[in-house]
Amino acid sequence: MGDSLVWNEGLSAMSNERIFTADASSVVFGPGSTHETGARVRALGCRNVLVVTDPRIAELPPVANVVTSLEEAGVAYEIFADVRVEPTDASWNVAIAAATAGDFDGFVSVGGGSVMDTAKVANLYSTWPDDFMAYVYPPLGQGKQVPGPLKPHVAIPTTAGTGSETTGNAVFDLSSAHVKTAIAHRALRPTIGIIDPENTRTMPPMVAACSGLDVLSHALESYTAVPFNQREAATDPLKRTVYQGANPMSDVWSTRAIELCAANIRRAVSEPDDDEARAAMFLASTSAGIGFGNAGVHLPHAMSYPVSAHARDFVADGYPGDHTLVPHGMSVILTAPAIFRWTAVADSARHLEAARLLGADVRGATPEDAGEILADALIDVMKSLGMPNGLSAVGITDADLDALVSGTLPQSRLTQLSPRAVTEADYRSIFASSMTIW
Ligand SMILES: NC(=O)c1ccc[n+]([C@@H]2O[C@H](COP(=O)([O-])OP(=O)(O)OC[C@H]3O[C@@H](n4cnc5c(N)ncnc54)[C@H](O)[C@@H]3O)[C@@H](O)[C@H]2O)c1
Repeated sequence: MGDSLVWNEGLSAMSNERIFTADASSVVFGPGSTHETGARVRALGCRNVLVVTDPRIAELPPVANVVTSLEEAGVAYEIFADVRVEPTDASWNVAIAAATAGDFDGFVSVGGGSVMDTAKVANLYSTWPDDFMAYVYPPLGQGKQVPGPLKPHVAIPTTAGTGSETTGNAVFDLSSAHVKTAIAHRALRPTIGIIDPENTRTMPPMVAACSGLDVLSHALESYTAVPFNQREAATDPLKRTVYQGANPMSDVWSTRAIELCAANIRRAVSEPDDDEARAAMFLASTSAGIGFGNAGVHLPHAMSYPVSAHARDFVADGYPGDHTLVPHGMSVILTAPAIFRWTAVADSARHLEAARLLGADVRGATPEDAGEILADALIDVMKSLGMPNGLSAVGITDADLDALVSGTLPQSRLTQLSPRAVTEADYRSIFASSMTIW
């Protein structure tokens, strides 16, 4: 990208992008901020909201505190507590039906990414009804533009985390195609994110570890994504893609998030009562969310989607045991070392800087060392958080390689942000070398 802010240097053609945007939800950060929910919802003009959550969070303090706060502010509410962890098209349709059945003028989501994403689509389809695949990203869906604004949505994350409280993405498992995909549009971005470190206190250690590694991967991927000014210019400013590529503002958020993860992720997982570490990881997740919500993520996320869809009989500690599930952050991180080892040649300086921010000693390193150093730094973190040693440890075998590759191909929204052009053979070799990591 260089240091110039007029982006003339290195432009290969006049059609290269020279403009980037920076969008984020309003953020309210701090312990106890959940108690501000009612006042803020009321100030948005809402009088009757749907509170969206999952069965476990419904029994925990964050929902109780939201309910008290809404009642104190005189806001009527109904609770929808049937969010599926790692949602599917079927589970989204249940939530959309609930949102459509009531006369709601706003949404409050309380939970992890599964909950916040479900609230976004319940808001979308109840406000602008259409065929289910209409707004889903192509090639699987029709990629239709959202016609106008949605109702206010106050998102209250309980994991640190997906950063979904700041992004316009909603991710789901399209069960019929055995693949995860997304709806992505600025209109889906919540109006306010309330980030209260008290709300992550009850996370089981494996949930803290997986959601924390999701944060780290968001930051590493958005920082190493193809720079925005090496991409085709948008012809319609209002249709400029949400995921624009690395840019000077997303870099600020992403690099800070890497540092915060390096300093806090281990403590936040092993010592849930460490308020400082938990708060720092929450700041990291929201920061990474703002970074990747504008820059995008690339291969670790794109290649994680078929991993989630093809794992057999794996249920992680701390996650609901009612369905097979490789947690999102785990599925992302299992291929990340092999990916960064492979992408480093595209921009060794950025990969080395990412490794340095993650705590690696990069003194004397040559550009050729960048991939290995970053992969090693990441593996250190994974080992310390008890991640399984590769895809084989979550039940994936070489017989799945074809399906993993074909499940990655529809993720062009993300794969086009890879800093290095990628072929089917590359996917296969990265998956194969991720079967066992260390
Ligand atoms: N929209 C986006 O930008 C975005 C980004 C990344 C991931 N995602 C999606 O988000 C989902 C993953 O979200 P997640 O990692 O936040 O986890 P999650 O929402 O799937 O929750 C995982 C489990 O942890 C439990 N849990 C959450 N917070 C808890 C708490 N404070 N105390 C006790 N238990 C708690 C939940 O009840 C659930 O059982 C995936 O579907 C993923 O694809 C979306």
